Amino acid sequence: MKILLLGKNGQLGWELQRSLAPLGELIALDRHSTEFCGDLCNLPSLAATVQRLRPDLIVNAAAHTAVDKAESEPEWARLINASAPGVLAQEAHKLGAWLVHYSTDYVFDGSGSAPWTEADRPAPLNVYGQTKLEGEQLIAQRCKKYLIFRTSWVYAARGGNFAKTMLRLAQERERLTVIDDQWGAPTGAELIADVSAHAIRQVLQHPQDAGLYHLAASGQTTWNGYAQHVLAQAARAQPAIKIAAKEVAPVPTSAFPTPAQRPHNSRLNTAKLQATFGLKLPAWQQGVDRMLTEIL
Ligand SMILES: NC(=O)c1ccc[n+]([C@@H]2O[C@H](COP(=O)([O-])OP(=O)(O)OC[C@H]3O[C@@H](n4cnc5c(N)ncnc54)[C@H](OP(=O)(O)O)[C@@H]3O)[C@@H](O)[C@H]2O)c1
Repeated sequence: MKILLLGKNGQLGWELQRSLAPLGELIALDRHSTEFCGDLCNLPSLAATVQRLRPDLIVNAAAHTAVDKAESEPEWARLINASAPGVLAQEAHKLGAWLVHYSTDYVFDGSGSAPWTEADRPAPLNVYGQTKLEGEQLIAQRCKKYLIFRTSWVYAARGGNFAKTMLRLAQERERLTVIDDQWGAPTGAELIADVSAHAIRQVLQHPQDAGLYHLAASGQTTWNGYAQHVLAQAARAQPAIKIAAKEVAPVPTSAFPTPAQRPHNSRLNTAKLQATFGLKLPAWQQGVDRMLTEIL
């Protein structure tokens, strides 16, 4: 099987390079790749890449993920998050190839407290969420052999992340203030990549399992709960680390005004994914603790 991976150096793209490698011949591109175009802004060249490589599977880990920046450059975000996945879907359909794509909890408006299911009506609050939703819709319109995984609060050991920022701030400051009215589940790029590989293997045998799935670690917390867990676990895992912060004070979202509005309820119901693919998603703390052990 020939696999084309786009966005190979993002948090998820990096982990997919590992998890997809045993499935076949992997061609991994980023926006700077030269032999083949991996730039999602260049739609004709992107289509030409697929036509030249003729992959059996396209996995798109590239996205415009700068949520606040997207508010001031909506057309740019739309090109990368909607038009490009639309082109990939169209080219995949022509070839009879599979397309795997990722979306977000930000397609929902964050109302209520129940975990969102795939059947719930999306109503994005910001440009990023709107363009990611448009990407989902174009894929569903243009091809049948697709998997879209909506995930949330993605982190990875590689690159910057919330846990690393909290650790740094906690060493510098005696008091941290962290939002406690946005709920979700921190989800490791490792977990998403491993579940993707598992699901791909299954859909190749059972094409009727194509579709949209929610994929997030189990359990729920707030950014404040996440920060508290990171600091407590860091102190346990690495007693030499000096944490100055005595308090992680809870504050509402309104304490940190941002250009993009964020949903309060980002909980995702993953029952469909677990039932379809025979998986049990681990508690969010498990992946976070593993990542901390790696970075400390
Ligand atoms: N991060 C989250 O919390 C989160 C939450 C929910 C869903 N998701 C979704 O999960 C998926 C993976 O996200 P992630 O966390 O891995 O994001 P990420 O670390 O920001 O990676 C995104 C990648 O896309 C690349 N990219 C941006 N514009 C591109 C272009 N024009 N052409 C080619 N590549 C381009 C970036 O390359 P450069 O580094 O060169 O810009 C980067 O490597 C995305 O679909 C995202 O929407 C993420």
